[in-house]
Parts: sequence; C-alpha cells; structure tokens
Amino acid sequence: MCCWRQWGSVGLLLLLLHLLMMSASSSSGKSPPRCLYCRKVLGKGNSTAFVDVGVQLRVHSSEQVLVVDNGLFQLNLSIPGGDVTGIRYNGIDNLLETLRDDFDRGYWDVVWNWPGKNITFDRVHGTTFEVVTENEDLLELSFVRTWDVSVNETFAPMNIDKRYIIRRGISGFYAYGILDRPEGWPNIDMDQVRIVFKLQKDLFHYMAISDERQRIMPMPEDRETGLPLAYPEAVLLTNPTNQDLRGEVDDKYQYSCENKDNRVHGWICGEPPVGFWMITPSNEFRTAGPIKQDLTSHVGPITLSMFVSTHYAGKEVGMKFRNGDRWQKVFGPVLVYLNSITSEGGVGSLWEDAKGQMAYEAETWPYDFVLFQAFPLSDERGSVAGQLLVADRYMTKDYMWGDSAYVGLAPPGEAGSWQRENKGYQFWTQADKKGRFFIEKIRPGNYNLYAWLPGIIGDYKYDVNVIITPGCAIKLGVLVYKPPRQGPTLWEIGIPDRTASEFSVPEPYPTLSNFLYTTSTQDKFRQYGLWERYMDLYPESDLVYAVGVSDYSRDWFFAHVTRNTYNLTYKATTWQIIFELEEVSQSGNYTLQLALASANEADLQVRFNDPSIEPAHFSTGQIGNDNAIARHGIHGLYWLFSIQVPCSLLGTRNNTIFLTQAQAKGAFQGVMYDYIRLEGPPKI
Ligand SMILES: *[C@@H]1O[C@H](CO)[C@@H](O)[C@H](O)[C@H]1NC(C)=O
Ligand SMILES: *[C@@H]1O[C@H](CO)[C@@H](O)[C@H](O)[C@H]1NC(C)=O
Ligand SMILES: *[C@@H]1O[C@H](CO)[C@@H](O)[C@H](O)[C@H]1NC(C)=O
Ligand SMILES: *[C@@H]1O[C@H](CO)[C@@H](O)[C@H](O)[C@H]1NC(C)=O
Ligand SMILES: *[C@@H]1O[C@H](CO)[C@@H](O)[C@H](O)[C@H]1NC(C)=O
Ligand SMILES: *[C@@H]1O[C@H](CO)[C@@H](O)[C@H](O)[C@H]1NC(C)=O
Ligand SMILES: *[C@@H]1O[C@H](CO)[C@@H](O)[C@H](O)[C@H]1NC(C)=O
Repeated sequence: MCCWRQWGSVGLLLLLLHLLMMSASSSSGKSPPRCLYCRKVLGKGNSTAFVDVGVQLRVHSSEQVLVVDNGLFQLNLSIPGGDVTGIRYNGIDNLLETLRDDFDRGYWDVVWNWPGKNITFDRVHGTTFEVVTENEDLLELSFVRTWDVSVNETFAPMNIDKRYIIRRGISGFYAYGILDRPEGWPNIDMDQVRIVFKLQKDLFHYMAISDERQRIMPMPEDRETGLPLAYPEAVLLTNPTNQDLRGEVDDKYQYSCENKDNRVHGWICGEPPVGFWMITPSNEFRTAGPIKQDLTSHVGPITLSMFVSTHYAGKEVGMKFRNGDRWQKVFGPVLVYLNSITSEGGVGSLWEDAKGQMAYEAETWPYDFVLFQAFPLSDERGSVAGQLLVADRYMTKDYMWGDSAYVGLAPPGEAGSWQRENKGYQFWTQADKKGRFFIEKIRPGNYNLYAWLPGIIGDYKYDVNVIITPGCAIKLGVLVYKPPRQGPTLWEIGIPDRTASEFSVPEPYPTLSNFLYTTSTQDKFRQYGLWERYMDLYPESDLVYAVGVSDYSRDWFFAHVTRNTYNLTYKATTWQIIFELEEVSQSGNYTLQLALASANEADLQVRFNDPSIEPAHFSTGQIGNDNAIARHGIHGLYWLFSIQVPCSLLGTRNNTIFLTQAQAKGAFQGVMYDYIRLEGPPKI
C-alpha cells in the first residue's frame, strides 16, 4: 500500500525522522499510526509538556498535500504551491480559517510592476517542491517558483524560493524566502514582499502587539456592516457582533509598529487557550532601517510578516531593479510560534511566553540550523565597535556623549540614505549613554556606518567604508559627529527626534475613536481623523505661534494639514511663527533649521516677513509620499533643510516666518514637523 522508511534513530533520545512517501499509485491517504516512537519530555516551564516524536513528514500525493508533524503540532502545505493550508495544534483541527480556500490561509505575496506601469498583486505559488534537509532534528522544505520568458507578463521576473523549517521540540515553524534575480533579467519595481496568515475568526478574538497594545478585536463581518470612513481601511463599527465595540473605528494602520519594536505580535484564542505569534528575531532583512513602520496583525484575524513595503515611506523605498543587475536576498527566517497553557495564568501568560520565545530566538540568531549558503552562520559574520561623540560648539564647548544614538551599518550611500535603502541588509543598535556601540552578527559585505541621535538634528556617516569579513571584530574607536549648525540658537520649536509626538495631538472625535488609545498618552496619535480636528481648533484662521509665549506641546498642531472647505475642495494653509530679535546682526546669514518628520505630496514654502513674495524665499518643492497623516503614523521619512536667511530679510520688530503647505488637492497632503530652530550668524 505504501512504503515508509526510517531515516535514523539515535540512542536514548529516540529521535526519529520518518519520511513517508505515498506512491503515486496509492489510493489511500492513510499512514501507519504515529505513536510507535513517542516519548514524554518536558518543555520550558511546565506549560509545554509534549510528546516528542521527532519531525515526521508524510506526503499525501493524491491530495496534493504535505503533512509534517513533530508531535507538538501538525502543518499542512500544498504541493507544489507551498501554501500553508492547515495548522493543527492543542486540539484545534486547524488554526487557519477553514472557511477560506486552501490558497487563502497562509501564503506569500508580492506587489510589483514594470517601470511606469500599474502594479500587480501576485500570490506566489511554487511550481516545484523539494525536501532540502532532513535529519532527526529538523526538516526543511522548499517551494520554488521559477521565472522564464514563457511566463513573462504573468509573474514577476524573480525566482522565489519559499522555505519552511520544522524543528524538533519547537511548537511552530520557521519561514524564509530567497528572492533571486540572475543577471540580465527585465527591469521591474517590487514594492511589497510579505507572508500572510488568516486565522479562524470564531476562535481568535484577542490581539497583542505590545505590552500596552492588546485588546479584543472586532469580527471581519463587523467591518462589512460598518460605515467606511475617509478611506476603505477605516470603518466605523455601527453594529458589531460584540456590542462593546459599537462606535469604535477599526483600521489596520492603527496597529502599525516601528521595525525595531515589531518583534512579536499575534492572536490569542480563549478556548482552548492558544496563541499564534509572528516572531521576527532580527531586523537585518527588513528594509529602510529601525524606525520604518509597518503593519503587524489586524482584523481578519490576520497576522503578517512584512519584509518589504512602502508603508509610511512611499514608493521611493520600493525595490527597483534596473540594468539587469544580479541580486539575491534572504528574507527571514521568521518564526510562526504556537503556544498554549494547561494551568491557570490566563491569556496574559501566552503573551509573556511569546515574548520569552522572541527573546530566545533573537539570542540564538543567526540560526545555526539554516544551511542555505547565502545565510552566513555566526562564525561567518563580523562585528563593529566604537564610540560616538557629538561636537556642537554652540551647545557646549566640550564633546558630548552620543547618548542613545542609533548606529547602524547599511549599504554604502549618502548620510541618511539608510531610510530609503531597500535591497541590502542593515544592522542597527542603540548606543549606551556614553555613545558606545557594538554591532554584531553582521553579514560579510561592504557597508557604511550611519548614526543619528535623539535630541540632535541630521545624520552622521563615517566616511570610510566598513568591510565586514567572516569573524572580523572591527574597532573604530572614537567617532565624532558634527551636526548641521551655523550659529547660536535663537529659538527652537519641538524636540529633534524624527517624530511629531511632542506636539499637540488632539483628542479624537468621541464618535470616531479606538478605545485602546483613549487613555494612552504614548499612542494618542493613532486615533482616526485627527487631521480633521485642525479645522475645529483653527476654524477661522491658521495657526500662529509666538516664540517665548506659545508652548509647542499645546500650540503647535502635530500635522500641517490642508483646510477642508466642506464642499470637497481643500485650501492651502499658512502657519506663522512670530519672534522678536534684539538686534539684527549684519555679520552673516541666519539659518533656519527645518526638520520634517513626514511629508506627503507636500510643497512647503517658507517666507520671511512677506507672506506673498513670489517665489517664496525657500521651497522644498514637491516632496514625500509617506501617507503618515492618514495612517496615524506620527512620522514617515525624515527631511532636514538648512535654510540660509540673509539678515536683510529680518528686522528687530516682530518678525514672522510664514510656512505655507501649498499642495492642497486632498485631506492627506501635508507635513509633520520634527523640529525648527533659528540660528544667528556664525560667531568667529
Ligand atoms: C512541573 O512538572 C514536574 C514534573 O511533572 C512537577 O514535579 C512540578 O511540580 C511541576 N511544576 C509546576 C510549577 O507545575
Ligand atoms: C492535513 O491533511 C491531511 C490529509 O488531507 C488531513 O487529514 C489533515 O486533517 C490535515 N491537517 C490539517 C491541520 O489541516
Ligand atoms: C492603470 O491604473 C489606472 C488607475 O487605476 C487605470 O485607469 C488604468 O486603466 C490602468 N491601466 C492598465 C493598463 O491596467
Ligand atoms: C516581458 O514583458 C514586459 C512588459 O510587457 C516587456 O517590457 C518585456 O520586454 C518582456 N520581456 C521578455 C523577456 O519578453
Ligand atoms: C466651494 O468651492 C468653491 C470652489 O469650487 C470655492 O470657491 C468656495 O469658496 C467653496 N465654498 C466654501 C463654503 O468653502
Ligand atoms: C547667505 O544666503 C544667501 C541666500 O541663500 C546666499 O546667496 C549667500 O551665499 C549666503 N551667504 C553666506 C555668507 O553664506
Ligand atoms: C510681538 O508679538 C508678541 C506676540 O504676539 C506680542 O505680544 C507683542 O506685542 C508684539 N510686539 C510688537 C512690537 O508688535
């Protein structure tokens, strides 16, 4: 009926791998009983006592499904597509939504386009399947979709290898992808690469993305019965299944997270208690650096692993392939982790356990069980250490410690280029109070070292390329960052930290709030519709800020938005900063340091003491596509403009700086300021 082979049994531990192959002519999908070699062992704590049968693979070729079981859970994958169709765990037949089609439960997709053409959503189904590694401790499976000219137009010119690893003793599976373009392939853009899991909606109701951000979520049908708001993602729940949620807004972008904090998120099922978690052990393969934001989990119930996206950044961070350059990148592995509790402890213990697992995964990175040659192991990687100081003689005569600086390696480029970098690997850390940093586990390659610090404007770049070789331990010693600075500070607005969170973030409309954030000060900006509150707070005339009188936390609206005239037309808005100078020095130019935390299809024009002069004294030109106003982002990409202000433009009487955001076709055009500083002329 069927043949089955035993691949190894190792002494006392009885580690076994069984590879069961149904012959093609086999008529039945039944296989021999599993428990011949079962053994009780205890996991960490007592929550995960399990039956260890090693990793077992069965191929139900008649049903085009591959079944993997390690005694802790069972994973079904379609062949040769490599979609995750079933996850059996803790007595639940399938954690994934069985009401959905097989190919719509756990899958990879990409968004791509020919240059200048429309985008295509492309679900990646493998066309060939292979067992890559098989031993008593793990099984690695590969599902490849290969491109050639015959499938041009249909698929992106990219070979995509979706890998899954199932390990002994781990309740969950690892997923990673190898995206590969041989030399000479046609030009494309690729803006999104991700993995999607859709869980059973009748089981998973509680979502957690951080200690503070967790809650009972609406049902997917609640969105259908609700009222779509200014864009389809945002829906007012008018008749939710759980009436406690009536009157709330649901929008997946309210659950976004910066890469550096986006390490574990997922869902909890109350009965039986089960957690489903996406654990990202490293940020090396994510694009655009540590503070790039992205989606996590949201109503569906859906859990994502976003590898590449334009969210909170715009198409300028999408991957662009030109000139037929050879390219390959390994995304992941990430861990889809499952947990359960037998004793009391409540759902909170599932979240705590998931965090513990996340810490363990991060510690054991780079995984020694990933054998793909383009995934360097620990001893094939290198490290860089150093100390960053800051020299700004107008702040203090001495050097300052690079306190809490973000320091990272990314592919070579200009200072700050890491926030748009998208095809390589990045390695970031945060320095200690004295600016000392140590970056380890770096893949061999050619990098630049970049840094920026909370409290200081601009971007640092170490001017020598850093070449990482296997096992290297580079000591860079003391590095000194001289931030942009022309003269003494005359006044400043905000804190240079690349966000607008220190400014006035209004209360949401009471009828349009997400209750999760109503008591939060930290996440206040994640409410829907805050841009519209500008019109309530400044109904007649635009914001005027008087230096020395106004308080930025109260009087500086977090986003410079357009004005809705309530008949579907929008008007540009002009903000004013009023300040006095005791005297106007003739010794040189003044400098306006203007740092933006976000820009979306904006053109910010700056005028000094003359609101109507054309052209403006300074204009950013049209910039930005990060959509952070609509997406409750509080920041997108960072922009810094150092604007020369000839003394002839200033007077000793009240001066006014007019800030006009001139692009006003819609509600979501605008900027968020990070920080503004007027500097006097240089002192000799
Ligand atoms: C854990 O399991 C061991 C062995 O079954 C048992 O002796 C111990 O009491 C358990 N501990 C807890 C905290 O449940
Ligand atoms: C996996 O597929 C097998 C064979 O079709 C089926 O019996 C089993 O229930 C599936 N398991 C899950 C978790 O979907
Ligand atoms: C591209 O998208 C635009 C806007 O959605 C649409 O009007 C146009 O028909 C599309 N073109 C093609 C070739 O699909
Ligand atoms: C594939 O299709 C694109 C878009 O139509 C076209 O520009 C390109 O030349 C085609 N490439 C090949 C190799 O056929
Ligand atoms: C309505 O729009 C027109 C332009 O189409 C504009 O001139 C007018 O002022 C707007 N009305 C109001 C009340 O804002
Ligand atoms: C002062 O600013 C003006 C206008 O931007 C510029 O042309 C000039 O070169 C600047 N002068 C100095 C000394 O930097
Ligand atoms: C300058 O502006 C401040 C704040 O608006 C105001 O209090 C003051 O009277 C003004 N001074 C002059 C001379 O206009």
